[in-house]
Amino acid sequence: MTAEFKVTPWEVTGDIDYELLQQKFGTTPIDDALLARMGKYGEIHPMLRRGIFYSHRDLNILLDEYDKKREFVLYTGRGPSGNTHLGHMMPWIFNKWIQDVFKVRMLFQMTDDEKFLFKDLTLHDTRNMAYENALDFVALGFDRDRTKIILDTENVNKLYPIALKVAKKVTFSTAKAVFGFENSTNIGSIFFTTMQAAPAFLPTEVEGRQIPCLIPCGIDQDPHFRVTRDVAPGLNYPKPSMLYCKMFPGLGGGDKMSSSDENATIYTTDLPKVVKKKVSKAFTGGCVSIEEQKKNGGNPEVCAIFKYNYYMFESEDRKLDEMAQKCRNGEILCGECKVALANKINVFLEDHQAKREEAKEIVDTMTYDGFKW
Ligand code: TRP
Repeated sequence: MTAEFKVTPWEVTGDIDYELLQQKFGTTPIDDALLARMGKYGEIHPMLRRGIFYSHRDLNILLDEYDKKREFVLYTGRGPSGNTHLGHMMPWIFNKWIQDVFKVRMLFQMTDDEKFLFKDLTLHDTRNMAYENALDFVALGFDRDRTKIILDTENVNKLYPIALKVAKKVTFSTAKAVFGFENSTNIGSIFFTTMQAAPAFLPTEVEGRQIPCLIPCGIDQDPHFRVTRDVAPGLNYPKPSMLYCKMFPGLGGGDKMSSSDENATIYTTDLPKVVKKKVSKAFTGGCVSIEEQKKNGGNPEVCAIFKYNYYMFESEDRKLDEMAQKCRNGEILCGECKVALANKINVFLEDHQAKREEAKEIVDTMTYDGFKW
């Protein structure tokens, strides 16, 4: 274990200490009282119950407003830099649950501009990726009448006036302090945070009344939203409330699934045999030999297979506990666990891939101003 880790919107490395990160960012833990409160609106999602969505900003205030019949708008997004993997899907699945429970409208921002600025990609590349990623988003079944997809380079006419207002309130020294920009950073990157802030204020701007916003997403995005929240009062916009999750782990045992390690990453378009192969090579908490493992047991805490079950593929706590117990007792071996997980993932992907095909017919009807990809 290394003590050093780094979490920024563009880079996540090391073993993440999520408690420490929460302290550094100044976000608030989701305590039992808040969990119980969430439980009043619908059956608590496993990602909340298990502390995967673990931290927030002003969620109570948002719920107070909701209780007074004030609807909020959900907002999350994706930087289209490559194919969608399970780690991207995790917060979207959670957003879908929030939409179902609270029956609210949703904005999904695709920051093709961001990925053009920060990566070695053309605008053509990022737009194509945005389309591919949007199919995965739509496939999750968001309410078609209440959900709109924003593509930055396409919907810039709506976003730009808001981004400008935000930009006027953020100095270069703030941007440097928050994001670590240097003199060599391109000026598009410095401006970008204003584009990510804009959708949070878009409903308020368009409808001319204060509309609260809830943004469930990875905690790595907090720097953007700290800036967003700081400028909100001065622009007479409501401060968005935040609900933050941990990063979805990689199959290699790392804390974040990342496309930089393709073999430890499961894409939504992977075929069953590819999934089997990737899962079979996963990092586990097993021992070097079968004999040793039967005798001493394994360690689910560090096991990528167990983490996958915990994060996404086993919603029943009882079954999860049983899995951990059997592992510790040496009653099940890594090979069995791998096969079982690969099967679960393939069942999920088979269904998802079918819906992803159907999404091709739907996606155009869900774009913000009805643009064509
Ligand atoms: N910057 C995010 C990324 O790189 C994409 C994004 C845009 C986003 N708006 C958002 C993520 C709102 C979470 C919430 O993936």
